[in-house]
Parts: sequence; structure tokens; C-alpha cells
Amino acid sequence: MITHSKIVLDEEDIDGVTDVLSSGLLVQGKAASSLEEELASFIGVRHAVAVSSGTAALHLALICLGIGHGSEVIIPSYVCTALLNAVHYVRATPVLVDIDPYTYNISAGQIEKAISKKTGAIVVPHMFGLPADIDEILSLGVPVIEDCAQSAGARFRGQYTGSLGRISIFSLYATKMLCAGEGGLILSDDPDLIARARDLRDYDEKETYTIRYNYKLTDIQAALGKSQLKKLPSFIEKRRKIAGLYNDGLEHVVSRIPSVPEGREHIYYRYVITVDDPTRFMGKMQEKGIVCRRPIFKPLHRYLNLPGYAVTDQVWSNGVSIPIYPSLTEIDADRIMDAIKTIS
Ligand SMILES: Cc1ncc(COP(=O)(O)O)c(C=O)c1O
Repeated sequence: MITHSKIVLDEEDIDGVTDVLSSGLLVQGKAASSLEEELASFIGVRHAVAVSSGTAALHLALICLGIGHGSEVIIPSYVCTALLNAVHYVRATPVLVDIDPYTYNISAGQIEKAISKKTGAIVVPHMFGLPADIDEILSLGVPVIEDCAQSAGARFRGQYTGSLGRISIFSLYATKMLCAGEGGLILSDDPDLIARARDLRDYDEKETYTIRYNYKLTDIQAALGKSQLKKLPSFIEKRRKIAGLYNDGLEHVVSRIPSVPEGREHIYYRYVITVDDPTRFMGKMQEKGIVCRRPIFKPLHRYLNLPGYAVTDQVWSNGVSIPIYPSLTEIDADRIMDAIKTIS
């Protein structure tokens, strides 16, 4: 069976975790601080705060930007519910916008139409590892939270995603680019935003009371995050190699393969093709021992029963994510392409 995603762990990862276990100091400590420094330095941002998940990172990022009841937060519809949850956690109003038909990222033009006096922030996920139209979005003058849960290591005009907005978030969930089981980070050049996030992630031993959270990352997870970060460039190289094989082999086979606008470096967190009937396609692939998935389980406007969002609906109706991960072999990739050719 070829799974849809696969965690890649080696001896170094296991040794890192074992060292933490042997030290007896499991809670957020040295490993978490050094993960913060290492990710911030890799991405090219001054400060980072480690937290327990990407969702926790989004939640704190919204609070740090002062988003609350009465504020609107613009998010794409074609994304997982983590974004919607985070906006609801702070009692703000989510404003969903459609995506770009070529990059599947939030559409800058649609954002512009959705901006109102109440807009407090725009959350911009770089979907599937391809940077969004971040320069156009930044030029709209609203604080941007870059959501890099799927884009660690992707670059926009030479700069890493996560270094472009006012604040950015990362996820260390098991199947993400950097795996720690669970975990997240908030990055920003603004020391005040970061100090606030640092304060809010831990509730204990504070002089004054305000609502705070237990959003700490354990050193067990941080050790894994650190050793994974060292391998990120090689992970990306392997993903790009497989994507190259798919690009060549599937160009005339499926309706659409990913296209990458100039100046953007895709890391292929997901390789999304479009087919006429995803349900039938995924069933046939499963029969051949290959697991494919819808890249987004259900768009947010469908959960909320909102009309519109034609591009999201169309991409959701045809999009399929095929297996791509650093340990996928060329033999696996050939088997996947052969299977696709017999089905399409
Ligand atoms: C774009 C995006 N943002 C945020 C998240 C939430 O991250 P986590 O699962 O670490 O809470 C995810 C997770 O799938 C995601 O894909």
C-alpha cells in the first residue's frame, strides 16, 4: 500500500527525543528555546515563540493583533477548519473569500472587495506549499498573518514565507513539512507581539491575572522539531524531485497539474491534480493500493452554507492530492503514474 503521506524519522530524530527523555526535563525548556531561535534564523525573522499547535499559534496571533469581538478577519474558504476555529475563539467575524483558480491560494482581488472598516487582519495560508500573492495582499494595508502550516521552506522572490507578513504561524503536526507529532510556532519581527504571545502561552506564576492558555510545547516535541528542521532542505529537494517526475509524466494525462508563477518556489507539501470525478478516481486508486485524498476535506463556505465561492467549489469538485513525501521512491512514483494513466 502506498499511503497518502508518511512521516520521515531517522536515528537523529530518535536520539534527539531520547536525550530529552534521559535528561528528565520534559516540559518546555532548552529545546523549545533553541527551536525558536533556529526556525526564526532559518526563515529570516527576529523572534519566534513555540506553542502546542498551529491552531494555538493562530489563536495567539489574532489576540496579539488585538482582534476580538467586532473585528472581521478575512480567510479563504478553501482551507481546513483550523482558521475558522481560531477566528471564532477570539469572537471575531470570519469573512470568507474565494481563491485564485491557478494557485488555489486566497485571491488578492477578492480580499480587496471584502475589506471593510472592521477588517482587523487577513490570514494568508500558502496552500499546498506554493506562496500566495503576498506582495499584492500586503499592499492592501491590513495586518497579515502568514499561515505557513503547509509552506515551511517555500520562497517568494527569494524570501521565505513566514518572513513577509506582520506575524506568521507554523505547524509541526505529524504530516507537515516539519514533524513533531503536534506543535506550532509564531514568528514576528515585532518584539511586543512576541512578548505578548510568550506571556499568553503559559498561565503559571504570573503577577497579574488575565486569561492565559496552556499552549506550551514540550521539549520532547521541540527536540523532534529541531532535528527535522536540519533536514528541511533535503526534504524539499526530494519533494521537488518527485514533483518533477509527476510534472513530466502527468502533463497530458490529467486535466491539470500544478503551475508555479514566476518568482515562487513551491515545496510541494501537496501535489494536487484535477480529475473529472475525484470519488471514482480515489476509489480506483485505492483498489490499486494507492491512497489519494481530497486536499481540503470540505470548504468552509459549505460548512457555513454560504452561497458563492465558484472557484473554491470548482477546485474542490475536481481536486485530488496524490502521494508525495521525501521517502516516496521513484518506483512508487512510477507505480502511481501508471495507475493514474490506466484510470484517466
Ligand atoms: C493551512 C493550515 N493552517 C493551520 C493548520 C492548523 O495546524 P495544527 O493542526 O497544527 O493545529 C493547518 C493544519 O492542517 C493548516 O493546514
